[in-house]
Amino acid sequence: MTEMLPGRAVDPARFRRVLSAHAAGVVIVTGQTDGIPAGLTATSFSSVSLEPPLVCFYVDRNSTTWPRLREADQFAVNILAGDQAELAARFARPGADRFGEPTRWRPGPLGTPLLGDTAAHVLCTPHSSLDIGDHILVVGLVTDAFVYSLDHPLLYHRGRFGRFTPHG
Ligand SMILES: Cc1cc2nc3c(=O)[nH]c(=O)nc-3n(C[C@H](O)[C@H](O)[C@H](O)COP(=O)(O)O)c2cc1C
Repeated sequence: MTEMLPGRAVDPARFRRVLSAHAAGVVIVTGQTDGIPAGLTATSFSSVSLEPPLVCFYVDRNSTTWPRLREADQFAVNILAGDQAELAARFARPGADRFGEPTRWRPGPLGTPLLGDTAAHVLCTPHSSLDIGDHILVVGLVTDAFVYSLDHPLLYHRGRFGRFTPHG
C-alpha cells in the first residue's frame, strides 16, 4: 500500500481511476427556456430527502448547457433505460444537436422536454444550489414522478455504458 498523507488532496489521476470503480445510473437533465430545449447527461444524480422530496445532481461550472437549464422554471430528470447508451452519449457531446433526429422527446408540463422510452421521469422545480469545488450542486423539489420500466437501467462504469445484471 502506498503512503497515505492525511489532509492532502489525492492526485487527480488516481482520483479519476478510483471513481471509475463506482458504477452509476445515468440520467439526462432537461429543461426549456424561451421555447428552446436544453439537456445534459449526468451520473451525479442522487436522492436527497423524502420529506420534502428532494433530488440533486452536480453540474460542471464549465457546462455550456447549465446557464440555459438554470433559467428554466422546472427541470426533468430522465432516468435512462439500458438501451439508451447512444442517447446518453449524444447529450454529453459538445455541439451535438441533442433534440434533433433521432432523439425522441415531447414537451411535458410547462414545456419541459421529456425524453421518450426512458425508465422514469422525475419533474422538479429548482430548490437550491451551491457552488462546490469546480461543480454546482443543484437540488430540485420533486413535483411529480413517473416510472415506466424497472427492469433494465442504464449504468456507467469504467468509462463504458452497460446494463445491470441482478443475482438470481
Ligand atoms: C456518463 C456521463 C456522465 C456525466 N455526468 C455528468 C455530471 O454528473 N455532471 C456534469 O456536469 N457533466 C456530466 N457529464 C458531462 C456532460 O454530459 C457533458 O460534459 C456536457 O453535456 C457537455 O456539454 P455542455 O457544455 O453542453 O454542458 C457526464 C458525461 C457522461 C458521458
